[in-house]
Amino acid sequence: MKSETVTITDNSTGKTIECPIHKGTYGAPVIDTASLYKELGMFTIDPGFTTTASCRSAITYLDGEQGVLLHRGYPIEQLANESSFLEVSYLLLHGELPTATEFVEYENQIKNYNNVHEHLMRFFNGYRYDAHPMSIMVGVTGAMASFYHETTNVKNSEDRMRIAHRLIAKMPNIGSKVYKHGIGEPFIYPDNSLGYIENLMNMMFAVPSQPFELHPKAVAALDQLMILHADHEQNASTSTVRLAGSSEANPLAAISAGISTLWGKAHGGANEAVLEMLEEIGDVKNIPKFIARAKDKEDSYRLMGFGHRVYKNFDPRATIISKACHEVLDDMDQNSELRPLMQIAMELEKIALEDEYFIQRKLYPNVDFYSGIILRALSIPTNMFTVFFAMARSAGWIANWLEMMEDPDFRIGRPRQLYIGSERRDYVAMDKRG
Ligand code: SDX
Repeated sequence: MKSETVTITDNSTGKTIECPIHKGTYGAPVIDTASLYKELGMFTIDPGFTTTASCRSAITYLDGEQGVLLHRGYPIEQLANESSFLEVSYLLLHGELPTATEFVEYENQIKNYNNVHEHLMRFFNGYRYDAHPMSIMVGVTGAMASFYHETTNVKNSEDRMRIAHRLIAKMPNIGSKVYKHGIGEPFIYPDNSLGYIENLMNMMFAVPSQPFELHPKAVAALDQLMILHADHEQNASTSTVRLAGSSEANPLAAISAGISTLWGKAHGGANEAVLEMLEEIGDVKNIPKFIARAKDKEDSYRLMGFGHRVYKNFDPRATIISKACHEVLDDMDQNSELRPLMQIAMELEKIALEDEYFIQRKLYPNVDFYSGIILRALSIPTNMFTVFFAMARSAGWIANWLEMMEDPDFRIGRPRQLYIGSERRDYVAMDKRG
């Protein structure tokens, strides 16, 4: 069957090439421009990679217009309501939902790996008590690479899957200790009589002097939140992990690079920035002032939690989370300090969605707009929100790393550029400069 192509003609020379079109299961076909430089002596340029496919992937599919999010073909709405984060992490890594036997084996393996080397605890001492938790996550996760360097041959499939399971197992241990470090409480070890999310909450909130009571609704809300943050196609932090891993670097070092990228307010740091924004607004009557600032081209201010590079109608995760938000808050007592923030969030969403500026630019609440409110309702401090995002997204990051390392077309990532600097010039001795 004749493969479809796109014809590109350099009108300055009349030279023409045929570029193959590749089609996937769903979504936009892609133009294979690999021969462009060889045939026409040109590169493509696409700052921010708004229309550039960096890879072939079978992990996650997004449709930004229809608000569709599939993980290995399964709709996020079904996974969020019927699965668990641990099971979704298995699905992302292995490509299929586990059988009951496979899940028990996986859960036991994760429990076997959930301790971290005692010497890793010493890295926490190097951080001030008030260090931002994401700075600690970056450092400690990167440091963990030193404990699994000699035993991780990135060319060996068994080593790759083992380090993937180790990462899934150890991220709650590290994330909870980041929190404990900040509040000066003793570190809590994993308790393998508990499930994955229960263990995470126990390591975060338990103290040695008394048992910690786990609330099933809080566990369920956090489990769903982790599912909704597990993976999201080739977003900035996932692309970072792929590029860092493409040099055959230690995968935990690549994950540390992904955590660094996620930290930014334009990406995973937005959930923390949303709460800070709601607190800065302080009262529903102040909303118009903040909306005006967000619309003012002279002001770099943006409404945190609004807009998305891909979703241009609604973020399906925000739809699920906003429902969970109302459920968590309905259970909350009337004078909870969160209620005013939730009211500001609801009013802000209403006003923004009726405003021509946001409608015209297709700016809708994204996953981060609501996630902060639920995390706060679960007594998780604002500066820990992106740590939760990182713990969840580590499943997507390592799944993408595995897929890249197994790709028959695997090669180091090395983009080119359009050079706009000085023409060639000769060095001038210091005493001859103007
Ligand atoms: C995540 O990629 C992923 O999948 C990310 C993520 C994941 O799961 O990995 O979904 C998680 O990062 C969600 C996004 C969280 N970030 C925020 O909530 C921060 C606020 N949002 C913006 O910074 C912005 O919307 C981005 C970064 C999310 C998207 O940026 P784009 O796609 O580069 O959009 P843009 O900057 O080109 O904006 C287009 C227009 C501009 O106006 P004009 O120049 O056309 O007049 O929309 C405006 C922007 O000024 N705009 C906003 C805005 N977001 C975009 N104006 C006010 N407030 C905003 N939030």
